Amino acid sequence: MDYLYLEETDSTNRYAKDGINDIKDMTVVYTYKQTAGRGRLQRKWSYAGEDNIYASIVLKPSNEMREVYSNLTQLLCIVLAEVFEEYGVEPKIKWPNDIKVKGKKISGILAEASTTQDGVLQGIILGFGVNLNTKLDFLSKIDQPATSLNIETGEFVNKEEFLKKVINKFCLYYNSFIEEGFVLIREDYKRRADFLNKEIAVKVFDKTYCGIAADVTQNGALRLMDKDNKEHILLIGDIL
Ligand code: BTN
Repeated sequence: MDYLYLEETDSTNRYAKDGINDIKDMTVVYTYKQTAGRGRLQRKWSYAGEDNIYASIVLKPSNEMREVYSNLTQLLCIVLAEVFEEYGVEPKIKWPNDIKVKGKKISGILAEASTTQDGVLQGIILGFGVNLNTKLDFLSKIDQPATSLNIETGEFVNKEEFLKKVINKFCLYYNSFIEEGFVLIREDYKRRADFLNKEIAVKVFDKTYCGIAADVTQNGALRLMDKDNKEHILLIGDIL
């Protein structure tokens, strides 16, 4: 993996997307000062100080879109979860790719694809933000309960070291994941999932599905059983 450090940027995802033609496959664009971070579903990712990570992995796997690419956020989610565990915390996954510690968000992932006007895939941008050393006044400004690794461990976290651990682990899994797909991590994912067998509501665009989260399928989709015992296989959405 190549590292591309930016002293300051509005968004590493925006930077990577706009510069996709000039950025090589397997490059991580990162900064410690991101002023207008993008989040999922038109949300934003607040700047939480410069002792945190704001990064985007640029991948250029092949020109045609494959189903497994949409699971890459789940691979990154597992990678982050494993790294958090190395620091002694217990991460829980909220489908599809949020990580929480004691019910509070600690990292966020946003994947974007860059395509040409005629729909040819130019690259995938896997952006992630991690609260590593976030001061309480920053956390209180975030619109949902949030925590950071230093708060959970009681120790200052070396951001360069953390980033390297994530990238090295991602590289370790990447090729097999592209070959084998979500099944490679399915058990690891389910083990850390905190929504399974619970009653949940999932928002998919402007529709909300309610039911029991029965499983995560071989493709990483959420299998939901509603009150009439009707099955819903959800590929995207947001657990409310
Ligand atoms: C979410 O939980 O909504 C996803 C947040 C993703 C934030 C990261 S920070 C680095 C990268 N660049 C961005 O603009 N967003 C992602």
